[in-house]
Amino acid sequence: MGRADAVERYDVFEPVKICPSILSADLARLGSDVEMVAQAGAGYVHIDVMDGHFVPNLTMGVPVVKSLKRSCSLPLDVHLMIDNPLEELPWFIDAGADMVSVHAEVLDEGGLVRAVEMMRAGGVATAMALKPATPVSVLAPVIGALDMVLVMSVEPGFSGQSYIEGSEAKVAEVVRMARAAGASPLIQVDGGIGDATAPLVCAQGADLLVCGNAVYAQDDPAAALERIQQVADQARREALAA
Ligand code: DX5
Ligand code: ZN
Repeated sequence: MGRADAVERYDVFEPVKICPSILSADLARLGSDVEMVAQAGAGYVHIDVMDGHFVPNLTMGVPVVKSLKRSCSLPLDVHLMIDNPLEELPWFIDAGADMVSVHAEVLDEGGLVRAVEMMRAGGVATAMALKPATPVSVLAPVIGALDMVLVMSVEPGFSGQSYIEGSEAKVAEVVRMARAAGASPLIQVDGGIGDATAPLVCAQGADLLVCGNAVYAQDDPAAALERIQQVADQARREALAA
């Protein structure tokens, strides 16, 4: 994507993509829980991989990605919250991930570049994730090579936490940094996103929203997803028209 296209991307309406996190699903009926959100218009399935080291929690890994790849029609968005992404990235690419986010906090500059090279070689979208306290500037060495930046709006580790107020400012910062570099990564926001917080981040340029509890912990997950989609798209339209 050239510089002109990059600038334009932030000025054209595209529907927001909702990425339900299966961490909040009923894992005893994962297939039907994923099918339900696919029917409701979800864009990706978000798979939270936690190793018990980078974050205190321990969740799911390669076998879940492999099974979903066989059974699910949505693309798979794998969020690696692990200490050693350069070792395990190939496993998740081979398992069928369509996009893998690795955390910038565990990589030095060479590691960031290497991770992007591995993602490109593996044919997956290139993505880096930032914890709430991590400055956007750490992505400077790779910003031009990223398909997506994941902005965390809670401390990684658990679903069902409250959105950290002001996280939308970081979305705006990513947009500014990307524009200045002539780059145009998509921006995903993860943590405490529901119908009250989706408009805040979408008004600043968020393209993809991870929703755990705001979808799966609701009585009617499909209706909850549709409502978030609606308020998110409306905020984007209003921001573009302003
Ligand atoms: C947190 C995970 C999130 C989480 C989102 O570490 O990365 O994806 O499952 O859950 P909610 O939307 O409930 O905050
Ligand atoms: Zn996540």
